[in-house]
Amino acid sequence: MWCRLAPAPLLLLQLLASLWLRAPGASELRYPPGKIAVVGAGIGGTSAAYFLRQKFGRDIQIDVFEKGTVGGRLATINVEGKDYEAGGSILHPLNLHMKHFVKELGLSVPEEQGGLMGIYNGEEFVFEESSWYIINILKLLWHYGLNFLRMNMWVEDILDKFMRIYRYQAHDYSFSSTEGLLHALGGNDFIHMLNQTTEETMQKAGFSQKFINEVVTSIMRVNYGQGANINAFVGTVSLAGTDSGLWSVKGGNKLVCTGLLYASKAQLVSGTVLSIEEKTRPKRTGGTVKLYEVSYNSPSGSVTDVYDIVLIATPLNRKMSNITFRNFNPSIAEFSNHYHQTVVTFVHGRINATFFGCKGSCGFHLSHIFTTDNPKLFINSIGVVSPVQNKQENEKPPSGRVVWKVFSKEPLTKEQLNLLFSSYDSVKEKKWLAYPHYTVPRKCPPIILHNRIYYLNSIEWAASAMEMSVIAAKNAALLSYHQWYGNIDKIDHKDLNEKLKTEL
Ligand SMILES: Cc1cc2nc3c(=O)[nH]c(=O)nc-3n(C[C@H](O)[C@H](O)[C@H](O)COP(=O)(O)OP(=O)(O)OC[C@H]3O[C@@H](n4cnc5c(N)ncnc54)[C@H](O)[C@@H]3O)c2cc1C
Ligand SMILES: *[C@@H]1O[C@H](CO)[C@@H](O)[C@H](O)[C@H]1NC(C)=O
Ligand SMILES: *[C@@H]1O[C@H](CO)[C@@H](O)[C@H](O)[C@H]1NC(C)=O
Ligand SMILES: *[C@@H]1O[C@H](CO)[C@@H](O)[C@H](O)[C@H]1NC(C)=O
Repeated sequence: MWCRLAPAPLLLLQLLASLWLRAPGASELRYPPGKIAVVGAGIGGTSAAYFLRQKFGRDIQIDVFEKGTVGGRLATINVEGKDYEAGGSILHPLNLHMKHFVKELGLSVPEEQGGLMGIYNGEEFVFEESSWYIINILKLLWHYGLNFLRMNMWVEDILDKFMRIYRYQAHDYSFSSTEGLLHALGGNDFIHMLNQTTEETMQKAGFSQKFINEVVTSIMRVNYGQGANINAFVGTVSLAGTDSGLWSVKGGNKLVCTGLLYASKAQLVSGTVLSIEEKTRPKRTGGTVKLYEVSYNSPSGSVTDVYDIVLIATPLNRKMSNITFRNFNPSIAEFSNHYHQTVVTFVHGRINATFFGCKGSCGFHLSHIFTTDNPKLFINSIGVVSPVQNKQENEKPPSGRVVWKVFSKEPLTKEQLNLLFSSYDSVKEKKWLAYPHYTVPRKCPPIILHNRIYYLNSIEWAASAMEMSVIAAKNAALLSYHQWYGNIDKIDHKDLNEKLKTEL
């Protein structure tokens, strides 16, 4: 802020000084880029536009291409006149970038609704939460010994290391690969987590098989629609989703995307990007310059435009984005990116307690049912949800008609709905290619696809979450900036943690 108040000569001096100081190792002073393209207006693309504007300044043109609606996998669905989160819904209290955006954009966070949770194994509840704190603790101890406590400590330890990213990024450091980024946070341990299943890792760390099968697996199924065989890094992200203080954005998480797009003063281009090709063009001042030609389908037909830098903020695979990279040498490969299908079904109705093994007139008091890995089960989870406008709306004892959100691999049939609910009136369904289908071992796709083409969604192969997309977006903005201006000391810096410790 004080910069604005500084008299002009002082500013000039500072500018000269900063150019001078940059001299050793830095390349020649470059002109700023003219135009930058961002493909995809999900949380990754819109936050990238925001960070690009921050880094490159107000004079560059930023175009954000979107073939569907702004928000992407952050979307709401209307059930009986009210909107509910249908895609990414839950944020962690330590998701600092998202927290900052909400504050900066003047958005608000409603109080989260509680409600009791139970774990169903297809036959009976293996665990049921009680509304009494002390009883819960005793129940957890009884069922799982100290596993629960140890899990919290384990997650906290990894989260502590993960939080280093905010310091690195605040100091402008960037990474040219997802593995490099993870390594800077947690060393080889973090990289190894990508190559090991959550189950293996937790077994080695001494967690009981019962705890893994019942608690850990059911949490993986709720968050990623897959079991404890997903990589240990995304597994830990998933476990962190059981911490307290989880939040979401009032009015819908997608408001962050529209807000960021507006704040970035980027131009939204409604159209489907079809292909990207490198072109050599003459410069006004003589010589040539290499630019990227982006071809896209817009309502007014097929159009092309050229850019200095391109950020891809959507998963690269035929089913989701279908972008062709023309005439690159070496060619930019299609990644064998298989995304996992998750179906979200909203049902306004009364749950069938008998289906969940409740006999006679037992009062049904659970609002969230997680499930273990039983092939007989056709759902991953079911839970009561509140509208995005007002979280207090749906009442607690869910014995009456409320809105339930069901996660499953396949769309629910009429027969299945009739089993789950004793009565219902409206049903709304959304089918997603939601997150990677995780297998181990696995290398993350590159971030740098070509000299000045960056791929944000590489990070999803470590873990897919809103905050992860934002971290990737900030990284890509910093990386593209440092590469453009030749600040190689800000890319893949070794021993960052030690360096920044001594700088404090
Ligand atoms: C059901 C579900 C539940 C989830 N739950 C959570 C949760 O609780 N917490 C959490 O943190 N995360 C959650 N996630 C994950 C989270 O939503 C995603 O990781 C995140 O939203 C990804 O954002 P993105 O911007 O990287 O990609 P996207 O949101 O997919 O954005 C990509 C955009 O690019 C557009 N696009 C694609 N191809 C083209 C093209 N050729 N031309 C132009 N535009 C194109 C798409 O239309 C899309 O809008 C969940 C996801 C799903 C589906
Ligand atoms: C991908 O795009 C090509 C043309 O660019 C088209 O022929 C093909 O049908 C598309 N595939 C899918 C799955 O949309
Ligand atoms: C409820 O679940 C039971 C047990 O699966 C089933 O027999 C019954 O048909 C379901 N529907 C109703 C309305 O009770
Ligand atoms: C993880 O697995 C990938 C793919 O098999 C391999 O290339 C990489 O070297 C492995 N990394 C570690 C740290 O084991």
